[in-house]
Amino acid sequence: MSNEVNRFSQIFMAVVAAVLTFVNSTAVSAQDNSEGETAVEALELFVMPQSGPFRPDQISIPQQKMIEAWARSAHADASAEAFTHWDDDGEVPASCSTCHSGAGFRAFHGLDGSEPGVAAAVPVGGVVDCETCHNPGLSEITAITLPSGIEHPVKPGVEAACLTCHAGREAGVSVTNAVGDKAADTPDPEIGFINPHYALAGAVRLGAAGAGGFEYPDKAYSGRFFHARPVADCASCHNPHTLTVAEETCLTCHETGNFDAIRISRVSYDGSGDLPRASAPTSPTMQPC
Ligand code: HEC
Ligand code: HEC
Ligand code: HEC
Ligand code: HEC
Ligand code: HEC
Repeated sequence: MSNEVNRFSQIFMAVVAAVLTFVNSTAVSAQDNSEGETAVEALELFVMPQSGPFRPDQISIPQQKMIEAWARSAHADASAEAFTHWDDDGEVPASCSTCHSGAGFRAFHGLDGSEPGVAAAVPVGGVVDCETCHNPGLSEITAITLPSGIEHPVKPGVEAACLTCHAGREAGVSVTNAVGDKAADTPDPEIGFINPHYALAGAVRLGAAGAGGFEYPDKAYSGRFFHARPVADCASCHNPHTLTVAEETCLTCHETGNFDAIRISRVSYDGSGDLPRASAPTSPTMQPC
């Protein structure tokens, strides 16, 4: 990034230098030809401020910090597989566009004036742009339908956006349907892999309340993790632009900022009864949400 900033400021300085040279040269020709109105007009066009800032990193652009943070995040990574997968097809199909393009997201929620709830194919090239989350229409959305079919109520605002895209594409019910009457836990070559899809932290956090995972009929499962207020929604832990979770956020209340080490509960959630083991991350893809 600092390389980019350097390159940017080099280009910017080059432009400033070129403009200054031009102003100097027109100033000379204006002297030579002091009655010429065109030359005077040209001079006025290129009046430079007497003093700086001239470097882009010294000029305060409103929202510059947010734009910079977002531009470095996964949401803005236009070269990522998540945004380039359809490049050869020319468009992102309706089944994928809701989560893989700001335009597709707006189409699905009817934020572009279309009918809400209907996904649409959109041109390639989109990312999770500013207007995905900064959209007054988000306050009208009161529930998100999860892949389990459950309608999960959301409070008005950006949480509806995060949950739309980070709830996965399959749920426990997909496994139940695939298994049908067959015996549980019995390998069967007829049944293929059911891919829950990626980064479904929103569904994971809801636990049994979102029915994202498969559940054995005779077992009880924990519901949503209601964290202590005011740490209540995605953006209270994740910076919505960088997407990272700052350890200092946790240190306000917890003794440690190390996510894996934050343990209060004396319940062994994986049923092992082994609390130290229960504290260790069980899989690199199951993050504490
Ligand atoms: C409910 C939202 C949602 C839908 C619908 C969806 N995806 Fe995704 N997809 C995601 C998210 C979130 C990620 C980000 C994973 C990550 O962190 O890279 C992702 C990642 C991907 C990736 C990148 C994986 C990688 O290795 O980086 C591909 C490819 C992909 N999806 C394909 C598809 C296709 C094809 C469809 C339509 C048939 C589709 N997705 C529909 C949410 C969705
Ligand atoms: C993934 C969702 C998301 C995206 C994409 C996003 N933002 Fe934000 N933005 C938020 C949220 C949520 C907040 C509120 C943060 C808070 O209240 O702490 C916010 C806050 C802001 C604020 C501060 C507003 C205020 O009143 O303090 C600005 C400015 C801003 N965003 C600009 C942008 C710009 C510009 C872009 C695109 C380059 C962008 N955002 C992309 C979610 C997003
Ligand atoms: C329009 C769909 C969409 C919305 C809305 C959205 N995301 Fe994402 N998010 C994605 C996709 C797609 C990726 C993967 C991008 C990539 O691979 O570069 C992603 C990546 C992420 C990552 C990085 C995951 C990783 O594997 O490193 C985090 C964290 C994240 N999003 C959190 C959020 C939060 C919090 C919100 C709400 C403030 C939000 N997202 C809103 C689609 C979305
Ligand atoms: C209590 C704080 C907290 C809340 C609330 C929270 N997260 Fe996270 N999230 C984390 C931490 C901590 C990680 C792991 C980050 C790391 O390892 O750097 C994480 C990881 C993630 C990841 C990457 C892991 C993955 O699943 O691929 C995504 C995406 C994500 N969160 C999205 C969300 C969304 C969407 C919400 C709201 C529905 C949310 N988070 C709510 C703390 C939180
Ligand atoms: C405002 C204070 C506060 C902040 C800030 C805070 N927490 Fe918490 N957290 C709590 C309290 C209080 C509990 C206990 C809640 C309960 O048991 O119902 C808790 C519980 C947890 C738990 C469950 C632990 C267990 O063993 O049950 C996790 C995980 C967690 N917090 C993660 C985080 C992360 C990650 C952050 C930083 C992004 C964070 N918290 C920030 C107050 C906070």
